Amino acid sequence: MFDDVPGAMIDRSVWTCASADALYRVVFTAMTEGVVIHAPDGAIVDANPAAERLLGLTRDQILGRTSTDPLWRAVREDGTPFPGEDHPAMVALRSGEPQRDITMGVQPSDAPLRWLRVNAEPFVGTTGERNVVAVFHDISEKVQSRDKLAEQNFMLENILTAMSDRVALVRADGRVIYRNPAATMDAAEHAPPVLESFWRGVDALTPDGAPIALEDRFPNRALRGESIEATELILQPAGRPDRRLHVVMSARPMRNAAGEIESALLVYRDISAMHKLQEERAAAQKMQALGQLTGGVAHDFNNLLTAIVQSIALVQDGCKGDPHLERLTGIIAKAAKRGGDLTRNLLAFSRQQVLEPRDVDVHALIDETTMLLRPIIGGSIDLDIRLNATHTHATVDPGQLTTALINLAVNARDAMDNRGVLRIETRDHPADDTPEIEIAFSDSGPGIPPDLRERVFEPFFTTKPEGQGTGLGLSMVHGFAHQSGGRIVVDDSADLSGARVSIILPAA
Ligand SMILES: Nc1ncnc2c1ncn2[C@@H]1O[C@H](COP(=O)(O)OP(=O)(O)OP(=O)(O)O)[C@@H](O)[C@H]1O
Ligand SMILES: [Mg+2]
Repeated sequence: MFDDVPGAMIDRSVWTCASADALYRVVFTAMTEGVVIHAPDGAIVDANPAAERLLGLTRDQILGRTSTDPLWRAVREDGTPFPGEDHPAMVALRSGEPQRDITMGVQPSDAPLRWLRVNAEPFVGTTGERNVVAVFHDISEKVQSRDKLAEQNFMLENILTAMSDRVALVRADGRVIYRNPAATMDAAEHAPPVLESFWRGVDALTPDGAPIALEDRFPNRALRGESIEATELILQPAGRPDRRLHVVMSARPMRNAAGEIESALLVYRDISAMHKLQEERAAAQKMQALGQLTGGVAHDFNNLLTAIVQSIALVQDGCKGDPHLERLTGIIAKAAKRGGDLTRNLLAFSRQQVLEPRDVDVHALIDETTMLLRPIIGGSIDLDIRLNATHTHATVDPGQLTTALINLAVNARDAMDNRGVLRIETRDHPADDTPEIEIAFSDSGPGIPPDLRERVFEPFFTTKPEGQGTGLGLSMVHGFAHQSGGRIVVDDSADLSGARVSIILPAA
């Protein structure tokens, strides 16, 4: 009746006791997993060929040994020794509980360490005592590839940590799922509230300062599948242009194994310092070009004016007694003198002024100039003089230094609308080797906006109404300071509300 069932084809007559033992031996020998049988005293009483191979010992070497045999050298996954009494077979033997999937490193004699996954199963033998069968297979390859992966991860982490380039992974919802330390620093320094989200609270601008719409931001473009090669842009916490970060950024879509875009990889470099340097260089070049231009014109102009001034003096002599002509020649002489003053300022700016430097006691010169200043700045401005420098001498043209100081005082007066405090102070400028003296003019006016600070030195740059300023005051001071081996710095006043303009000169 079972003839149509395939199992029925088996001749069950072979299943005698003796042949079951033979079958067991066949299976035992054929298994690729190592099998050892421990007697109740822990000694190994049987081992299959796979066990010989996996343990690197012959059957004779294995039989009779216990787990506590000093010849076994076993380690745990964390590298600490694996004591014989803790081997899974011994635990199973003691407790009667099966031990599952224990990882054990064994080092058969000189062979390299090999990782085994061990299962130990207790069973009751014919004598009624507890025995254990331990079955194990080699997982060295798995452990090695896991170790290798861990090593690669470690290396990658080290590289990402050491990199000065910023690396960030941004998910479609804007969450940053990875930042390397350099990027974390930016986030902390430039936009503390945006550690979580790449763009919440952060504006992205083109290098010209035009805002970039959210959908055109690099992470979003990458999340749509676009790859963007190193492109310059500005990142800034919303409304904080003072904390701008100029960066060059690349962006790429990151896909999962199924090829779907999961995040955007952003790699960017802070070029703020380089940018600042470039801007400074460009500003310096512009000033130099302006200097050459104005210098050339001023020079020729000065010659023409000299001719006019000399001739008009002769004409004035010749028309004495004619009031009409006297008035006209007077106007010409005055205009020529004014023209002479302007060209002198232009020459000063272009550093072509003929200077007569000598040793000057700057404090004494400031005292004298202050007397001149009182009537110029008027009675409603408090003059606060603080002469604190210890190096008080400089090699400069005293006349030009006086003019420079008057220019700064007049600027402060005009900025304060004739009312406020003008502080003139000197101090030793902290320089590494050559001592310098700093003469600073601070006022309680509105100050000079940061974006104008480079421009105020340009000749003819003025914010004053037509006819009230020629825009040559600071140009003259700038040219004079540089021609005297010093410089001029425009800043905010620390304790007055307004500007702080200082001339820094090498001390004699
Ligand atoms: N102390 C100050 N506070 C605020 N703004 C200032 C101050 N000093 C200079 N400025 C700004 O710098 C500009 C240029 O100054 P600069 O002395 O070169 O020219 P000016 O004062 O406008 O004209 P000029 O000095 O030739 O009569 C001024 O127009 C003003 O906008
Ligand atoms: Mg001025």
